[in-house]
Amino acid sequence: MGEPSATEPEHSDGEPVIATRALTKRYRGGQLAVDGLDLTVPAGSVFGFLGPNGSGKTTTIRMLMGLIEPTSGTARVLGQPMPRATRAVLPHVGALIEGPALYGFLSGRDNLIRYDSADPAADPRTRRSRVAAALDRVGLTAAAGKKAKAYSLGMKQRLGLAAALLQPRRLLVLDEPTNGLDPQGMREIRTLIRELASDGTTVFLSSHLLDEIEQVCTHAAVMAQGRLITQGPVAELAAGARGRLVVTTPDPAEAARVLKEQGVGDIAVTDDRVTGEPPDRDLAEVNAALVTAGVRVRGFTVERASLEDAFVALTGEGFDVAG
Ligand SMILES: Nc1ncnc2c1ncn2[C@@H]1O[C@H](COP(=O)(O)OP(=O)(O)O)[C@@H](O)[C@H]1O
Ligand SMILES: [Mg+2]
Repeated sequence: MGEPSATEPEHSDGEPVIATRALTKRYRGGQLAVDGLDLTVPAGSVFGFLGPNGSGKTTTIRMLMGLIEPTSGTARVLGQPMPRATRAVLPHVGALIEGPALYGFLSGRDNLIRYDSADPAADPRTRRSRVAAALDRVGLTAAAGKKAKAYSLGMKQRLGLAAALLQPRRLLVLDEPTNGLDPQGMREIRTLIRELASDGTTVFLSSHLLDEIEQVCTHAAVMAQGRLITQGPVAELAAGARGRLVVTTPDPAEAARVLKEQGVGDIAVTDDRVTGEPPDRDLAEVNAALVTAGVRVRGFTVERASLEDAFVALTGEGFDVAG
């Protein structure tokens, strides 16, 4: 990803942008929402914080932003302890948590002007140009004069992002930024996230959509029931799970029998496709066994594992988004 910016002398290269140790939150009602979380977000990454609804993502983000106190454990953001350093850290962080708070009776532009005015560090003389640049960034220039209540959900999300982008940020924290958006709106947000990341901003986004994380993130952490299941570069997470062997043949029943003999597990047959878990042996031998048994093989491949395969392998469950 992007080179570390030369204007950030206080933040050394190797130091993670977010680091938590045994971070834990038990709500007053007794709910253990986050359980001993060790999270490491490298500088310059687009980091996907993935988990089904109720797995503790928003609770973690609220602790990282100093909005709620952890029950135990520690969190560092931009090298500083949270929530103690909240006032020093937050000016460097753009956040969009559970939908932006907007004034419906104000235009998109006036919402941003209000937002910028609330920032004591923001120079009023450059306010108009700052707001115009942020609107342009998220593609809302043409709709800037419309009342925010007339905005679509996607436009509201983009206006919230624009608010987070009024100042240069070292870190963007986006909680389910595409929640409730249609596919077109989701694509727009993804494109925007890629653009921001290409400038070197670290982006931490949560999502309950595996697909979305695979499309936009360089790194990911997977949560289930408040606990971290795994984290690392997306490519490595997916590689950790083995892909499925796929044999295409006009003799599927005979192929399935031979594959089973060869140690292929979890065999499934649909029409002319026989799939299964590859065995721990040279696949050339498996292929040869099929041919020797007279199975006519049209295709013999191992499909690349997805993040979903990795999740299923790690948790023994499907990635169920129902919450
Ligand atoms: N303010 C709260 N008080 C009590 N329990 C809560 C509160 N907020 C969230 N929870 C519970 O904590 C768990 C994690 O919730 P949350 O962090 O919102 O998950 P996610 O963002 O991954 O959907 C859930 O079981 C949820 O019901
Ligand atoms: Mg949430």
